[in-house]
Amino acid sequence: MQYNVTVIGSGPGGYVAAIRCAQLGFKTAIIEKYDTLGGTCLNVGCIPSKALLDSSEHFHNAAHTFKEHGVEISEPKANISQMIKRKAGVVKANVDGIAFLMKKNKIEVHTGTGSFVDKNTIKVTAKDGKETLVTTEKVIIATGSKPTPLPFAPFDKKRIISSTEALELKEIPKHLIVIGGGVIGMELGSVYARIGSKVTVVEFLDNLIPTMDGTMGKELAKVAKKLGMDLFLGHKVTAVDNKGKEVLVKAEPKSGGAAVELKGDYCLVSIGRRPYTEGLGLDKIGIDLDKGKIPVDDHLRTKLDNIYAIGDVVRGAMLAHKAEEEGVMVAEQLAGQKPHINYLLIPGVVYTWPEVASVGYTEEQLKELGRAYKVGNFPYKALGRARASMDLDGLVKVLADKSTDEILGMHIIGARAADMIAAGVTAMEYRASAEDVSRMSHAHPTYMEAVKEACLAATANRPIHM
Ligand code: FAD
Ligand code: NAI
Repeated sequence: MQYNVTVIGSGPGGYVAAIRCAQLGFKTAIIEKYDTLGGTCLNVGCIPSKALLDSSEHFHNAAHTFKEHGVEISEPKANISQMIKRKAGVVKANVDGIAFLMKKNKIEVHTGTGSFVDKNTIKVTAKDGKETLVTTEKVIIATGSKPTPLPFAPFDKKRIISSTEALELKEIPKHLIVIGGGVIGMELGSVYARIGSKVTVVEFLDNLIPTMDGTMGKELAKVAKKLGMDLFLGHKVTAVDNKGKEVLVKAEPKSGGAAVELKGDYCLVSIGRRPYTEGLGLDKIGIDLDKGKIPVDDHLRTKLDNIYAIGDVVRGAMLAHKAEEEGVMVAEQLAGQKPHINYLLIPGVVYTWPEVASVGYTEEQLKELGRAYKVGNFPYKALGRARASMDLDGLVKVLADKSTDEILGMHIIGARAADMIAAGVTAMEYRASAEDVSRMSHAHPTYMEAVKEACLAATANRPIHM
């Protein structure tokens, strides 16, 4: 065999698995069909979307909050070409960084589509048709996911677009219609709403970001409306038609009533992503998919004992850090270690402004489990820090066990929630009670004081500043 381990796919699952394998002394290869490494996350996902979110937030502040802060400038103009150019530079620096890490860890990179010949042999087909055979003891499949189209309106990539095209637009849409008020819809919708587009979101369920705690979706709806976004919740889309320079969307309220007809210049379809296994040749090794995903056991092993699968292509949240943890877990198992992932404590973040961040159980889940719980809320507007920065929207919600006071869930919508949620993860990994956190000193003035106060509210209903 040429390699101990071969990883197929170089996203955050695949490249992290490869690095950990190399660190553990395995001769490792990685196969990637695209010319750049880093997968969805670095090329068309996490990193470019955050680059545009940051640029649009700067523009929004320049246009709306600088004056109040006493910073006087002439009216700012959003230059989308420069925003996209800067984003491309950020992506390049990141993907080049992964190429450097592959070299540093002596991981051999094969560029081309990997396809199983048998359980120890993978054929790599380059863009020019050249084929190479790779032989390997173990395989880690990390082929990720692709955007899901509407069954009746495939992506035409011009007017009916996915997140990939929405990260590359050459003009600021006059009216962007977003189908799906989940993570992508709200992140990219807010990018364009901030730089001047009219944005309308059509969501099938009755709340935005519906997989998160219900309070978060309700609060996010308030800030989205403040940003000027129109929301059609509980609406079923019935038609999306590219009419050349515009796109027509029809939707009906699920509960009955008048249908809605929307006319925009772009329609972003963000209704979820589906696992990607095309061209992988799973039929050659007898692996059948389960609802599109590669079935794995608790150790992320497929039905073949030398083949593992991780990240978006298997069950669970489609998140970069979940894929990374799984990559590390498989590598360490291969080295005989006994790693473990607590899936309940993988945080989820939506990078709107304010950000939304969540870990542990939602209130809806606790109700469904029949678990007795207490709730502690603390609003940002009661924080000195938030007043100083003018980031008054948001709240921290802590859910704790009614009798033991153990923290069961932490949900934050507010400035810097994405970074703050790490404190919730740490507390919950150590099974802290709400009282434990409420008795720890939190620096003043910080946004984190809202976490302490929400814990005080949960443990004994006695926040100090409310
Ligand atoms: P991917 O990153 O999808 O990588 C899979 C790789 O495998 C790809 O490069 C693909 O080309 C390659 N491949 C597939 N088949 C083959 C084959 N047969 N041979 C060779 N190579 C192959 N997650 C977060 O946690 N935080 C965020 O902020 C965030 N933002 C996002 C924003 C957007 C717009 C999108 C679309 C996604 C975002 N995500 C975010 C989700 C995140 O990108 C994914 O969860 C993550 O990339 C999954 O990692 P992965 O390694 O499983 O797969
Ligand atoms: P999503 O699952 O977050 O949201 C999809 C939304 O579309 C849901 O609210 C759903 O109810 C709605 N929907 C489904 N079908 C619909 C229909 N026919 N009409 C109207 N609404 C419909 O999926 P999204 O936003 O496409 O993102 C895909 C994945 O990428 C997510 O699973 C997410 O984990 C990941 N991602 C993560 C980010 C982050 O961590 N910040 C950012 C972007 C994506």
